[in-house]
Amino acid sequence: MRVLVVYCHPVETSFNAAIHAEVVAGLTAAGHEVDDCDLYAEGFSPVLTREERLGYHDIPSNRAGVESWCRRLEAAEALVIVSPVWNFGWPAMLKGFFDRVFLPGVSFEMVDGRVKPRLRHIRKLGAVMTYGAHRTRAFLAGDPPRRIVRRVLRAQIAPLAPLVHLVHYDMNRSTDVTRGNFLARVRAEMEKF
Ligand SMILES: Cc1cc2nc3c(=O)[nH]c(=O)nc-3n(C[C@H](O)[C@H](O)[C@H](O)COP(=O)(O)O)c2cc1C
Repeated sequence: MRVLVVYCHPVETSFNAAIHAEVVAGLTAAGHEVDDCDLYAEGFSPVLTREERLGYHDIPSNRAGVESWCRRLEAAEALVIVSPVWNFGWPAMLKGFFDRVFLPGVSFEMVDGRVKPRLRHIRKLGAVMTYGAHRTRAFLAGDPPRRIVRRVLRAQIAPLAPLVHLVHYDMNRSTDVTRGNFLARVRAEMEKF
């Protein structure tokens, strides 16, 4: 499959950078064609401008500022997100990717006021996420990124699309062992993605 990997972390020595490397290596080893989108390295601008908001529903001119990312999303047969959780949400860079690229005419259409998904060409979803907090604390906070992956993103693709959701909670108390085990799990899951 052609897999679009959307990776979001500013630091090349971070744990998320290590996860990203395992994701790309595992998918490549499995024979997938990987389109590796490193949002920080590509200098993606997450800010939806005034003009973009005004023209948000104007297809196809609404994609003018993000044309290449729209094309990559449209060419994808699978999508894998790699990101830490910040303030119980996505880092601004990744949130902005969804705001600016998941556009009318790209990820959905409005038909008589109802949203009609347009990402059916994506058949499988992966999400690899890390939290500083323990799972219980994330749960008590409602764990929005978990719900977005499982309920929102997945529904946009296909409600029953296969999902590989790998999470390292409790990074604040992680050890070499927990991190090493997690990286090995990420690699193994991507090799059979
Ligand atoms: C700006 C910022 C906000 C954060 N907010 C949260 C949060 O709301 N919940 C949480 O569990 N961890 C939070 N964290 C911790 C990160 O999730 C944690 O540092 C990250 O998962 C570790 O991965 P890394 O070493 O690759 O950065 C935050 C970290 C930063 C830098």
